[in-house]
Amino acid sequence: MKKLNEQLKINTYKNADIKTWGVWGKIDYKFKSNFDKILKKYQYKINLSIEKIQHKYLGLVNIPYTNFLITTKCTFRCKHCSDLIQYFNSKNHFHITYEQFKKDVDALLLGVNNIKGFCIIGGEPFLHKDIVKMAQYVDNKSKIQRVYIFTNGTIIPDEQTVKSLSQCKKLCISISDYRINPKLKDRIHYDELGELFKKYKIKLFFKNDFKWFDMGNIESRGRTREENLELYKKCNCYYNAIFNGKLHVCPRSANLLGLGDFNIEPDDYVDLRNIQDKKDSKEKLINFYSSCHPSPCEYCNSIEQRVEVMPAEQLTAEESV
Ligand SMILES: C[S@@+](CC[C@H](N)C(=O)[O-])C[C@H]1O[C@@H](n2cnc3c(N)ncnc32)[C@H](O)[C@@H]1O
Ligand code: SF4
Ligand code: SF4
Repeated sequence: MKKLNEQLKINTYKNADIKTWGVWGKIDYKFKSNFDKILKKYQYKINLSIEKIQHKYLGLVNIPYTNFLITTKCTFRCKHCSDLIQYFNSKNHFHITYEQFKKDVDALLLGVNNIKGFCIIGGEPFLHKDIVKMAQYVDNKSKIQRVYIFTNGTIIPDEQTVKSLSQCKKLCISISDYRINPKLKDRIHYDELGELFKKYKIKLFFKNDFKWFDMGNIESRGRTREENLELYKKCNCYYNAIFNGKLHVCPRSANLLGLGDFNIEPDDYVDLRNIQDKKDSKEKLINFYSSCHPSPCEYCNSIEQRVEVMPAEQLTAEESV
């Protein structure tokens, strides 16, 4: 019998929790009451038992959420972008081809039982000309339950693009609402996008109640491995991330490796382009989800240092160089 290891345990709890939101999200907010809270608690317990059985006894890998970065190009240069997109420029941009995207997705799915949410992300994903083909490709995969596109709302796609996206049955577009930042009001087409996507009956998620925190720069913090492990365990980052064929525990880890020679240990990601077959894929994923991955945390602020900041504050011309 397999032991329920650290990262699998974290995933198991996240999965159980996310499935609870899934059902509960459909119920109108006004009906939420203490009674609902109790029911939700029971639902969570049931979900948890199912997840535990799947992981512990059947050795199935269920991923709650993973981002898949298709481009580092972005229409914004946010000073505090937690995903480090502000560090990419014309010399080091990453932009995946559709062919490579398909290969990476196939390699990932070989050993996976289920992915609750597959998030197509950037930078700004609507800057990629093949976004429709990519969304359709993952939408057709039975192991993927929900497909998301995360956008900053600066690009209005043409009607043909939106019409084609509307054929994706599992797609939800998440629009980050940065109008809270007064300097960006004119650059964001929040309402127009809302109308356009609604016209084609595409599910929308308006992300407008968020808070931004300063995760800091990419310098080494000089912590011990144990200190980074403590931070790792406390960190509430819900998303795994794939960048250039490598599955990482969080977007920061993924994008750091894309930026250069940071000390991210090879055990702290899965190289999807080096997978031989289904057995190999499953073994590597189980190994990955069986341990913690604190090496990227060396380049991240501690929980106490993560002060709240203005969402999407832009780098000035001098800071951008
Ligand atoms: C990295 S962005 C990529 C997608 C798209 N460019 C956008 O801004 O929505 C993904 C999500 O991370 C969030 N995010 C970025 N930096 C953050 C920070 N410092 N604190 C909290 N959320 C952050 C954004 O608001 C967005 O919802
Ligand atoms: S948070 Fe800002 S810089 Fe980062 S990807 Fe989104 S829009 Fe681009
Ligand atoms: S690098 Fe570590 S601390 Fe920072 S977001 Fe990723 S898991 Fe959390």
